[in-house]
Amino acid sequence: MKEELSNANTQAVLITGVSTGIGLGMAKKLLAEGCRVFGSVRSSNAAHELQAMLGNNFTPLIFDLSSSEQINRAKEALISSLSGQHLDAIINNAGIAEIGPLLHVTPESLTRHLDILVTGQLRVIQAFTPLLSSQPVPGRIFNISSISGKWPNVFFGNYTAGKHALEGLSKTLRLELERDNIKVIVIAPGNIATSIWTKQTMELVEQYKGTDYYRALKARLNGIQHNMADEAMTVEEFSTLFYDIYQNPNPANRYTIMKCRKWRYPFSKLTKMKTRVLVG
Ligand SMILES: NC(=O)c1ccc[n+]([C@@H]2O[C@H](COP(=O)([O-])OP(=O)(O)OC[C@H]3O[C@@H](n4cnc5c(N)ncnc54)[C@H](OP(=O)(O)O)[C@@H]3O)[C@@H](O)[C@H]2O)c1
Repeated sequence: MKEELSNANTQAVLITGVSTGIGLGMAKKLLAEGCRVFGSVRSSNAAHELQAMLGNNFTPLIFDLSSSEQINRAKEALISSLSGQHLDAIINNAGIAEIGPLLHVTPESLTRHLDILVTGQLRVIQAFTPLLSSQPVPGRIFNISSISGKWPNVFFGNYTAGKHALEGLSKTLRLELERDNIKVIVIAPGNIATSIWTKQTMELVEQYKGTDYYRALKARLNGIQHNMADEAMTVEEFSTLFYDIYQNPNPANRYTIMKCRKWRYPFSKLTKMKTRVLVG
């Protein structure tokens, strides 16, 4: 039986994808700051391990973003665990990325990316937004996008498409939730040292052996490993900056969080390139 929370005003936060990486980092930071964290995982093993690691103010919820049924079951568990308390924030963090050139990725792999990076996020938003408080402090939704939500990421076209779509979804959602005073904040990380990058393996690249892109893909893979060592922000650094935003009573609509200054110039230049407005 879990201990009762000592502080009745403790903030309750839902984070998707807390098994590793940014999700786990944000969960640890929010718990350290006194929040109560509900975190999604995909197996009961992961739930037990995290429960032991993160303590009594952490409650694991088991669901896959692709399953509305699992999400709704988790919602019922969350409602009963909250016992009348509101949810203060939803952090849509869970995601995938898989290397592959657009001329050769399978349509099924694009569909899988979009299901997790876009439709799955909406499944979570639809299920849990009604639990957000509106008074006295309105709840907030944080959508973890990426710098790939605005810029192209070569050989990560599926991922780039998903993150661009999440940005569009977030903009409309922000307007639609204005009447409820609920803020939608997009967080766009640059390189953060997590397993999302170590999941990019030579085995994945081997699928494209025999295509014109094979050598370039291998170089890209090497580049990722090099970037991780030299340019990536740690999860702890990211989580500290995220918490500053979390605490801000008047946050901006979108934040980019990145370490490497050398990337900033080309990104700002890219926005101005090759776009024209024609007024008839
Ligand atoms: N790391 C970066 O450089 C970076 C940069 C920009 C944006 N981001 C974004 O940050 C978020 C977190 O990524 P990360 O870097 O922390 O990667 P990560 O360590 O690979 O974490 C991804 C998390 O998402 C969960 N997940 C994956 N597929 C899922 C599904 N179908 N249903 C439910 N959960 C699922 C994973 O759970 P399992 O362990 O069960 O697979 C894991 O907890 C992602 O949205 C990513 O796009 C990361």
